[in-house]
Amino acid sequence: MNNFIFENATKVYFGKGCVKEYLSCLTKRYGSTVMLAYGGGSIKRNGIYDEVTAILKEAGKKVVEFSGIMANPTCAKVLEGAKVAKENGVELILGVGGGSVMDCCKAISIAARYDGDVWANFWARTGVFDFEPLPLGVIVTVTGTGSECNGGAVITNEARKVKTGRDYPACNPRFALLDPTYTYSVPKFQMVSGGFDILSHIMETYFSEPNESNVSDDISEALMRNVIKSLRAAILNPEDYTARSNLMWDAAMAENRIIKLGKMCDFECHQMEHQLGAYTNCNHGAGLAVLHPVYYRHIYREGLAKFKQFAVNVWGISADGKTDEEIALAGIDALEDFIVEIGLPVTLQDLGVTESTDLKAIADSCNLAPGSYKKMSHEEILEIFKECF
Ligand code: NZQ
Ligand code: ZN
Repeated sequence: MNNFIFENATKVYFGKGCVKEYLSCLTKRYGSTVMLAYGGGSIKRNGIYDEVTAILKEAGKKVVEFSGIMANPTCAKVLEGAKVAKENGVELILGVGGGSVMDCCKAISIAARYDGDVWANFWARTGVFDFEPLPLGVIVTVTGTGSECNGGAVITNEARKVKTGRDYPACNPRFALLDPTYTYSVPKFQMVSGGFDILSHIMETYFSEPNESNVSDDISEALMRNVIKSLRAAILNPEDYTARSNLMWDAAMAENRIIKLGKMCDFECHQMEHQLGAYTNCNHGAGLAVLHPVYYRHIYREGLAKFKQFAVNVWGISADGKTDEEIALAGIDALEDFIVEIGLPVTLQDLGVTESTDLKAIADSCNLAPGSYKKMSHEEILEIFKECF
């Protein structure tokens, strides 16, 4: 295994009823003014808003609301949130939602304590912390990104057409409350999109050097099998607690840095999806679903042994009578079949990309990830986009 240092500062409270049990106590140490940040209003429809505000009121908190955080949160929304936090003397941000809410809140936690250009100094390049970001706690309402257990925040700069992420340990939420029953109301499309995002995070980690036997890859295989099984069960019964709780912890495990220990990691599909998102505002998990099989058919020869292992250990494909290449390709086919089975798109057109979308501009704007089995070029990324179209 490669050398590593491991730390994860987020304290996780997991399980049915955890918000009722712990939220009040957790907010005690952060002063009296709490910014309740959320998205477009799902929490008002499913009762989570009422439950959380009642707890904060009972705890004697002054609640400042910040709503309307959109999917693929923008720089402008971050600055709006920072202004609200500064003007109201906010002492704790409480983000209630999915990846977009949590990411936006992490960026607000920096911007609220920083007077310079947050995009230029923390997203366009790696930032330097000579201050503490505003404390953040999160309540997860949809699983997928794993943002609850890391310092990562993916922000879109609309003017520059760039969507990019940074992972700052200083931005790890101080606490994360994960109640699987909060995800029961997530619509099917968003649930499978989040589920595929989990799978993608694990695959992007697994398909990278080193390839010799390592515990990170063994954990990844177990997690992938669990995501596939749990997603199928949650589609059949959205209120299957076992399935929902497995998915919720799978998402956290995929992005709490544990499976990345000692690994290079690839994340080229994420680079491509982020730029597709910057140009088209497509859904994150759906964009990944379109890209993965095609990208893997471009790189599998360079990582043949691992793709073979994936086919056998994750999808249960029999190796009998097949060449290594046939086994590897059967694994990628199984992944594609699963994408169709769960109802995610398989072409860029399904995502809303049209003939007039400038795929070359999008391809040219993608970062080239150093961890891919195969060194990508912008020309090859354009080829992949065209094949996905
Ligand atoms: O906005 P509301 O009305 O709340 O509705 C949301 C939204 O439409 C809805 N929703 C959430 N909880 C619900 C619910 N609907 C019903 N019942 C509930 N309990 O679901 C939608 C979720 O939106 P969003 O937060 O955008 O989804 P997701 O969690 O997939 O986050 C995507 C964002 O995270 C970034 C993505 O790029 C994208 O911007 N990522 C963040 C990462 C990180 N920080 O580590 C890693 C990822 O790879 C990813 O890039
Ligand atoms: Zn992702």
